[in-house]
Amino acid sequence: MDVIERLQETTHYIRSLSQLKPRVGIILGSGLGALVKYVQIEKEIPYEDLPNFPTPSVEGHKGRLILGEWHGIPLAILQGRVHYYEGHKMDAVVYPIRTLAMLGIEIAILTNSAGGLDPKMTPGDFMVIEDHINLMGNNPLMGPNIKNLGPRFPDMTEAYDRKLTAGMIKTLKDLDIPHWQGVYCGVSGPTYETPAEVRFLQTIGGKAVGMSTVPEAIAANHLGLRVCAMSCVTNPAAGIHTTKLTHDEVTEIANSVEKQFCDFFDRFLSTELADKP
Ligand code: HPA
Repeated sequence: MDVIERLQETTHYIRSLSQLKPRVGIILGSGLGALVKYVQIEKEIPYEDLPNFPTPSVEGHKGRLILGEWHGIPLAILQGRVHYYEGHKMDAVVYPIRTLAMLGIEIAILTNSAGGLDPKMTPGDFMVIEDHINLMGNNPLMGPNIKNLGPRFPDMTEAYDRKLTAGMIKTLKDLDIPHWQGVYCGVSGPTYETPAEVRFLQTIGGKAVGMSTVPEAIAANHLGLRVCAMSCVTNPAAGIHTTKLTHDEVTEIANSVEKQFCDFFDRFLSTELADKP
């Protein structure tokens, strides 16, 4: 089966369980799952039930697709993602976002946890992603182009939709939530960066660094979706502070900003996305 046939099989299965036609897709980063509580859930499907869907191997739950509504907006939420560092092919990493596109989303909101490259950042701050630098050493669109998904050479001049990005910044300002804006550097991981790598990332203009989001943003642009993205800065990137970096610290900080994260979405969806074309 080619990718299109596999995607059709997946979406066919989802449609057999729910008729909801999502307009907005949200990918939740690790530790940022709390907002699901606010959604009027119509259907919840574990990834392992979805034909052809990749399942995450990192700690915690295995991931689920949630279909529902918030502020009258039909949503599809991916809670849990697969990462390149887990050994998945790039194809698998972007399979979930392609599934959401087949279900009909027009807007993709990507979230993640990231290391802060600006010494002024404090753990728990948010950073709106204005642009990215792909340092993963791979690209999900390598190989024969699948014409039915998008063009061979997608333009990336506005990979992150200007209007949505401005809406995110305005929302954070209005709510007095500490935030930054800038360039996200996508690396493969799973090692955190060395201090020398962090100096390099600062030099090339990075503001945050993480191990996800870039493949999804590329695939979403290929699919013609409008994309916006936000990082939760969970730690100063290596070498900025002297303490060692652990995954527990990253998830603990992400969990601690739960309320602000949910408040942000509540406001962003109701003021920037509801009833807007
Ligand atoms: N580096 C890369 N990925 C990350 C980090 C980091 O410091 N923090 C959370 N994800």
